[in-house]
Amino acid sequence: MSRYKEYQYIEDLGKYVGQTVTLNGWVYNTRGKGKLQFVILRDGTGIAQCVVFKDNLSEEGFERAKSLTQESSIKVTGVVVASDKAPGGFEVDVRELEIYQLSMDYPITPKDHGDAFLLENRHLWLRSSRQHAIMRVRAAIVKAVRDFFDGNGFKLMDSPILTPNACEGTSTLFETKYFDLGNAYLSQSGQLYAEASAMALGKVYTFGPVFRAEQSKTRKHLTEFWMVEPEMAFFDLNDDMDLAEDMVEYIVQYTLKTCRKELEVLERDISKLECIKRPFYRMSYTDAVGWLNDNNIPLIKKIDNKDVESPFPWGEDFGSTQEEAIMEQFDKPCIIHRYPAEIKTFYMKRDPENPKVALAMDMLGPEKAGELIGGSQREDNFDWLLERIKHEELPEAEFQWYLDLRKYGSVPHSGFGLGIERMVKWITGAKHIREVIPMPRMITRIVP
Ligand code: 4AD
Ligand code: MG
Repeated sequence: MSRYKEYQYIEDLGKYVGQTVTLNGWVYNTRGKGKLQFVILRDGTGIAQCVVFKDNLSEEGFERAKSLTQESSIKVTGVVVASDKAPGGFEVDVRELEIYQLSMDYPITPKDHGDAFLLENRHLWLRSSRQHAIMRVRAAIVKAVRDFFDGNGFKLMDSPILTPNACEGTSTLFETKYFDLGNAYLSQSGQLYAEASAMALGKVYTFGPVFRAEQSKTRKHLTEFWMVEPEMAFFDLNDDMDLAEDMVEYIVQYTLKTCRKELEVLERDISKLECIKRPFYRMSYTDAVGWLNDNNIPLIKKIDNKDVESPFPWGEDFGSTQEEAIMEQFDKPCIIHRYPAEIKTFYMKRDPENPKVALAMDMLGPEKAGELIGGSQREDNFDWLLERIKHEELPEAEFQWYLDLRKYGSVPHSGFGLGIERMVKWITGAKHIREVIPMPRMITRIVP
């Protein structure tokens, strides 16, 4: 296909049975004695057993095979043989073996290491089979997202990362100096710019890293994460929820189709994903509060360092306790919609039928996945939006361009944001979000 394809890859071994191939990779493991050595090789695409029989290669070649250590980098030439016993179903009968570099004292061994040690060695930890599988699933999920939007008439319109204003509240902003223009902020969400893009191109999505100086040290929060945010002119909240469900179903089913092997390595219960098909569940915030109180799930607040319980009051935001309790009954995602306007962001449109609630929605995932998606219909009335901006004491001057969108051909429009890592965590069944991004950024970690 291309002039770069000089070598073969482990994932393609099935195509070469009976033929000689050359593989490049790293030594995962070795065993053997006497005239027979087994080298388990990984090349990024998979793992293959290489059988090194003394009589089949040069004397130096066999000595080199015997000297191999974990994570040494090598080049192997041999004949591909079908074998039921070998991982992946094929093995390589080695004829020559060369060493790029012998690796000395590789720090990550098959024994159990603590989390802190693995995180410090994240640059190496990525090579282990579990991390390898998670990263491949992540790549598939990102591809599914792009395919879904590209295939449904959306245009990619990326938003800037350096911005003059806040999108999702001012408490989680990363600030940086910006030449003579004062302070800039790392974007918390590409949404506001996506709205401008949607007024130009109709249906758009922005997909990039976003930043939040989150004080939350949970299994679900990063300070840098990836978000895909579609924004659609003329969509109302209902259209928005329909689209979110279509997208999630597509991503899960695509991953199931393309990542069987990876999900097997991760020992993921596939049946929990196979059932992720529409219709999903939907519930208004008000009904959810009723459900919590019917089921005696209280609000717990810390007062004077003591946990104080009360019935769940309308108007309070859900925490993970409430979200998980609600989701316990569901095998598929559930969208909670029409939250109290006071606990939601300034740009959300009030429900004309009940101005106390915003036309907002959150999609919660099953299996304690938490909030996967947050979205809303946007305020499209100039005066009401200006009032919200003033009420929140946001810098009006920086929002003039955003208000312009309500001045020149304002239309109903909606959108949402999906946190990619939340999705990868749920689909892979990873215990902690730090495992599902190559280099996690958290309050207490920026290295490597
Ligand atoms: O609910 P959020 O804050 O919504 C927005 O940012 C909107 N502007 C999106 C839009 O309407 N275009 O964030 C959206 C999603 C959440 O549902 C969650 O999946 C993820 O982003 N998320 C995080 N993921 C990892 N770490 C964090 N600290 C996250 N905060 C939000
Ligand atoms: Mg949210």
